Amino acid sequence: MPSHTGLDRRSFLKGAGMTAFVGAAGTSTAVIADADEGGGLFKNGNYDFETIYERGGWNCARWDGPARRYPNGELKYGMGVATMDFECPPCITEALAERCKHHTWGYMSSTTSLREAIAEFNAERNNLELDPSTIQLSSAVLPSMIAAIRTFSRPASKIVQLSPAYSGFYGIARHTYTEMVDSEMQQVGGRYEIDWDDLEVKLADPEAQTMIVCNPQNPTGNVWTEEELLKIGQLCLENDVVVLSDEIHSDFVRPGHEYVPFARLPDKDIVNNSLSFNSASKTFNMAGMKNAYWHSSDPSLLSRVQHFHYGAINTLGYVAHEAAYREGGEWLDQLLAYLDDNHKFTEDYVAKNMPSVGYTRPEGTYLTWLDFSETMDKIGAAEMAEKKEMRSAEVYFQDWLVMNSGVYLNPGTVYGLGGSGRMRFNVGSSRKVVKAALDLVAEAIDRA
Ligand SMILES: Cc1ncc(COP(=O)(O)O)c(C=O)c1O
Repeated sequence: MPSHTGLDRRSFLKGAGMTAFVGAAGTSTAVIADADEGGGLFKNGNYDFETIYERGGWNCARWDGPARRYPNGELKYGMGVATMDFECPPCITEALAERCKHHTWGYMSSTTSLREAIAEFNAERNNLELDPSTIQLSSAVLPSMIAAIRTFSRPASKIVQLSPAYSGFYGIARHTYTEMVDSEMQQVGGRYEIDWDDLEVKLADPEAQTMIVCNPQNPTGNVWTEEELLKIGQLCLENDVVVLSDEIHSDFVRPGHEYVPFARLPDKDIVNNSLSFNSASKTFNMAGMKNAYWHSSDPSLLSRVQHFHYGAINTLGYVAHEAAYREGGEWLDQLLAYLDDNHKFTEDYVAKNMPSVGYTRPEGTYLTWLDFSETMDKIGAAEMAEKKEMRSAEVYFQDWLVMNSGVYLNPGTVYGLGGSGRMRFNVGSSRKVVKAALDLVAEAIDRA
């Protein structure tokens, strides 16, 4: 545990009885503790995702960020921010340890081996052929998307996207002085479906110059089919709208669904009208390592964006990502099986123990999109939000849930049109944590 938390980790674990899930008394740091302090990475050929790995106290956005908002220790479970609680695969730490033996951190001379590793990973896992020399490296996905929007969307023009959509995209629009236009999806038979008439109208607006596609869609979990992507691509082509395909969640696809990279679509014109953005940062739980990449089959799109893009990558991120692409496959396969079980567990749990909560079955991602409208109505969340001058009923409900259950979820309204009544719940954790958090939420809404 870092010294700045003011807690000695060993004595804290002892004091907590080594088994409890607790908020650290007297600090603003939420902590989960378990008997196995080390977490336990690899046993008998299996990676251990079940043993709780404590992230609180390590300047973690998922646990320590929300805890600062509730300084009296109310936060017990950070289940909102999209980062998993699992230890990274050992190959990453081993590669970093090896690199750390050499104590210099100057500029690197070449990025070829990482670009080759990215191409090999995509060829093997996604049946996507990429020319390593055209892969562009970046510190993260959002900066490269911002560069693309600066290239294709003039200030005050419109970016179209399907919503509910990742909250960070609204930040991109603010950064680029553009306007985000949501085409709200409709829930049909438990799946979020594109409202094609609405999307067509929005793309036909001459002010629309780019469309963000998020595949899989955060937060609704849609894994877009080839047919859907082709239809989106065709509409964009007809309307001179450039497609920006954010595929950061593409490694999280559940059985029965297939990730179709936009760049692999069987229509050259549609593919040439697009750029794709990806990273292993979500996949291997290393977003803090700051490394991502983007590509396009159209050399002109590529070079235009390059004018606005500054890669700014760092040595440790480079080493960690290359190790993950080259050696992380087995860990990822085991992780996907564990996450799929977490999704199934959550679906069953909600059906049995929270009948008032609506559930959308995610096809991908480690996120779940839950409908708490009934509880929000019951506690008068909309009126309370107005009275307290809060941004939305969902933001009020977020606080209510922490105060009444200790569980922190992300409020649906930050995901744009279609987010009302909804909250995002992250299942990227030991099932023990998922269950304990769900137990507390179920009790709170029963009491409401
Ligand atoms: C869809 C999507 N895109 C981009 C990001 C942010 O990626 P980065 O940190 O690489 O900018 C996130 C993070 O949650 C995300 O969910």
